[in-house]
Amino acid sequence: MSLKIAIGGKGGVGKTTITALLARCLAADKNNKVIAIDADPVANLAAGLGIPEDKPITPISGLTELIAERTGAKPGTMGGFFTLNPKVDDIPDRFSLQRDGVKLLVMGTVQSGGSGCICPESTILKALMNHLVLVRDDIVIMDMEAGVEHLGRATSSSVDALIVVVNPGARSRAAATKIRKLGEDIGIKNILILGNRVNGPEDEELIRQSLSEFEIIGFVPEQDEIVEADRAGRRAFDDITCAPKELFDIVGKLAAMKK
Ligand SMILES: Nc1ncnc2c1ncn2[C@@H]1O[C@H](COP(=O)(O)OP(=O)(O)O)[C@@H](O)[C@H]1O
Ligand SMILES: [Mg+2]
Repeated sequence: MSLKIAIGGKGGVGKTTITALLARCLAADKNNKVIAIDADPVANLAAGLGIPEDKPITPISGLTELIAERTGAKPGTMGGFFTLNPKVDDIPDRFSLQRDGVKLLVMGTVQSGGSGCICPESTILKALMNHLVLVRDDIVIMDMEAGVEHLGRATSSSVDALIVVVNPGARSRAAATKIRKLGEDIGIKNILILGNRVNGPEDEELIRQSLSEFEIIGFVPEQDEIVEADRAGRRAFDDITCAPKELFDIVGKLAAMKK
């Protein structure tokens, strides 16, 4: 199965948690090859995937020599001449860490310039995202921060869905406009809502009502195991088959979308 999913939403709603759990649920089917992308500068997707933090993983944007070699320009410089379509196809396998069938790629941040900056680092990240979404046959699931500047228009339009994570509460009502804008900004047409940390049918109803114009892909309950795992610095649901059934239902819906 080839499936490209971006996970978005406000800070603290559970994007990183959901990305890690969905990636692991998807990889529970051994036929699936899954790449999880940490594209949020403050995310720590490694922990949720159970990849030890003492294992060094260099963010792609920090691969100074490789970037120089591939683009023909020194990172940190702007302007000048360098290639806009560098070779990136070997990067996912060379610079990812893997556990239980999920490969983790950390994008890292680009220091120089604004969002419109064309510098060697951003060129590599864009080319890599483009390759992952358009060329690679794997399942790609991306933990995104609101900005998502690494996704060019052409790439975004090939993303199967943007899953926006929301929590129940008064503020979920205010989210609708922002979500629509996020989708428009990124250029992803298929926007699905995932209600996270819900406690029962009232919470679900609150989200359904306040975001009635959007399709809801599912609800993930509030889980003590997630809170405790976070506190203890371990991954939640070490045996992923014990994760809430709702996550596997969501995976099923994503798979059905591709049929
Ligand atoms: N379903 C859930 N049940 C309990 N706690 C959760 C759940 N989802 C997320 N959390 C907790 O919420 C906090 C924020 O989650 P995180 O994934 O880091 O959010 P984000 O990536 O959107 O900033 C973390 O402490 C996480 O453990
Ligand atoms: Mg996060």
